[in-house]
Amino acid sequence: MNKQIVILALAVAALAGTVIVVAQDEPIDPRILTYDKGPDKINVSKYPAEMQKAYKQFATKCAKCHTLARAINCEFAVDDEWERYVKRMMRKAGSFITPDEGKQIFEFVTYDSKIRKRALYDKKLAETNAK
Ligand code: HEC
Repeated sequence: MNKQIVILALAVAALAGTVIVVAQDEPIDPRILTYDKGPDKINVSKYPAEMQKAYKQFATKCAKCHTLARAINCEFAVDDEWERYVKRMMRKAGSFITPDEGKQIFEFVTYDSKIRKRALYDKKLAETNAK
């Protein structure tokens, strides 16, 4: 085979590989991408000491595969939603989130939602109770 064709074929293969990797890593859902662009920190200075500690777990473990912003700006607010989702993320994360860390993260996100997302939390709770 001609050298140029070989190089071209390799370039095409590399490009195709990149496209496949991107397609797997990036959430297809534009809703999720907007979470990624929001604030990437929570001011926890007024939270109780154990919540400030749990925030550190959250900020480390939940920023391994995507921005922490995604976990901060998502629309989960009530305990049930968080329980389901933290478990889902723990399954994805395999061994890097231990059950104890998962519990601390759950405690943090549910506490934080009741403060930072109070309006959304109340709305969702009212909707659940109306069912
Ligand atoms: C092993 C990789 C990984 C880790 C660790 C991880 N996530 Fe995710 N997360 C993903 C992927 C992949 C998605 C894309 C959508 C999906 O699969 O649910 C996602 C999506 C999300 C979303 C958006 C879901 C939606 O539909 O609105 C939230 C919120 C989220 N993660 C929170 C967290 C939290 C909180 C933690 C820490 C407990 C965490 N993630 C840890 C991989 C991870």
